[in-house]
Amino acid sequence: MKQRLIVATRNAHKVEEIRAILSACEVLDLSAVSDPPEVEETGTTFLENATLKAVAISCLTDALVLSDDSGLEVDSLGGEPGVYSSRYAGEDGNDSLNNEKLLRELSGRNERTARFRCVMVLARSGEVLAHFSGAVEGRILQIARGEGGFGYDPLFAPEGYEMSFAELGEEIKNGMSHRSRALEGVAEWLGQPRETD
Ligand code: IMP
Repeated sequence: MKQRLIVATRNAHKVEEIRAILSACEVLDLSAVSDPPEVEETGTTFLENATLKAVAISCLTDALVLSDDSGLEVDSLGGEPGVYSSRYAGEDGNDSLNNEKLLRELSGRNERTARFRCVMVLARSGEVLAHFSGAVEGRILQIARGEGGFGYDPLFAPEGYEMSFAELGEEIKNGMSHRSRALEGVAEWLGQPRETD
């Protein structure tokens, strides 16, 4: 029987990517939990926020819970937007406003190296079992390109590529992304093979 795993996020793109990568598990979204609370991300690190989400949701179910806190770190912006990636353009912002703000902040700058970082926490019944991390290096493009993925994908070209994650498509992204690298640790911890194994 497949290992059941509830992903503690309202971001359907994250769930979709985790489901594609961790295909040996039955990956469920938050609809598997009744009345899940909006967990406030009050931490200042990915690990703190991932822990808050995994612990809060795992108190409401007997199932294993996996959280994902992730973001983009841009070197010439001192690591911003980092843990504030989803709220970069403000609480009422969205992916395209975040991308516009990032391009404004970087206008005229040649130094455009960046990385996506992902921290995942596995928890059961309010207890943290383990945590994992992954990163992918790359650079921020001059303009948004491509329709795939989500968030900053249209602006991020991974090292060794000219195209953005949004242009490269889900298979290539999932083969190298920060999320897939964190999930290597999760799969190993669960004793599960991954699709790519
Ligand atoms: P979180 O929900 O607080 O973890 O915020 C994650 C935010 O980081 C997203 O809203 C995106 O802005 C950004 N992000 C994380 N992972 C990715 C990715 O795989 N592609 C593009 N943007 C990402």
